[in-house]
Amino acid sequence: MHQPHRAPQPSSPSRSVATATAKRIVGLIVALLVSGCGASTASGGRLYDKWYASSDFQATSAAAKPDGSGGPRGDGTLLDGDGKVVPNTTGHGYRFKSFWGWDLKGAAGIYGPQHQNKTTVRPENLMTDTRTPAQLAAWLRMGAPGVPAWGAVMSEAEIALLVTFIDAMRTGLLPRADDIWTLSADAPKHYTLNVGGDPARGAALVRQRCAGCHGARGQRIKIDQHYSLGAFARANGYEAWFKILAGQPGTDMKGQVPGGLDRKASAAFILDVLAGLCDRAQFPTLRGGKDVLDGDLRCGGYLK
Ligand code: HEC
Repeated sequence: MHQPHRAPQPSSPSRSVATATAKRIVGLIVALLVSGCGASTASGGRLYDKWYASSDFQATSAAAKPDGSGGPRGDGTLLDGDGKVVPNTTGHGYRFKSFWGWDLKGAAGIYGPQHQNKTTVRPENLMTDTRTPAQLAAWLRMGAPGVPAWGAVMSEAEIALLVTFIDAMRTGLLPRADDIWTLSADAPKHYTLNVGGDPARGAALVRQRCAGCHGARGQRIKIDQHYSLGAFARANGYEAWFKILAGQPGTDMKGQVPGGLDRKASAAFILDVLAGLCDRAQFPTLRGGKDVLDGDLRCGGYLK
């Protein structure tokens, strides 16, 4: 379905070379836009994760007193659509992911009251939201009651990248959380990886594509103070899937899904990698670090 579009061939040799070249360029741009998982959408995903990773904005701490820097008031706060300060008392840090979660579903998803029950979650479900891309952009730019007006701190180009990412996910150009994991009331953190992944292929992919930075056993980069790559992924697959798709903001890690894959192949890549990382012997925790215990439901049948 999402095969790169070929530029049509000129119908007669007398057609100007310039027209043919222009058509090829247009075709190439269309191919880049529809290729789904390319850098074009991953950068919007990193903005969704932490839009200010490479900016001067320092979100105010979760304490009631603004103590950050940047933003319309210069103190690390943003204003909502009514011009009122959106306090960071719940610790959302003005990140889109805090309001709508790693599944973009808001209260209907993993951050919702039925699951991780985060106080930062918003009612809108971005996966089913019917606003057009232009309306989404306007809403996020100007805010609404309780929704920050990000247009004060993000450029139009950044908002466009963000909206392209959200729209690509909701229209099925990109994999979505449902393709990788399923909400579960019984599992710690309320998710289990989907069945159907190939852990052997995934372990090979980790060695090919992640080991250069994370080390052959995933222990070279310490994540969140106490996790190896494997231990982090086993405990936080609901988040790790998004990092594989979009990258880690503010670091060298860009989106890891190879370009040109459609939703299904991209989802298989991510699920296989996560299934492979469920092997505690191949991808151990750090010395003295935490790890999931036998029988933990997050990795399900992949846990070794
Ligand atoms: C170019 C180097 C590079 C490559 C390739 C890379 N990573 Fe990373 N990764 C990093 C860096 C740097 C961090 C940030 C560590 C930190 O936050 O201090 C990171 C962080 C992560 C995180 C944690 C994000 C968080 O929430 O803190 C996950 C999960 C992750 N990588 C998974 C992967 C997987 C899976 C692959 C392979 C498919 C991969 N990475 C490939 C460099 C890389």
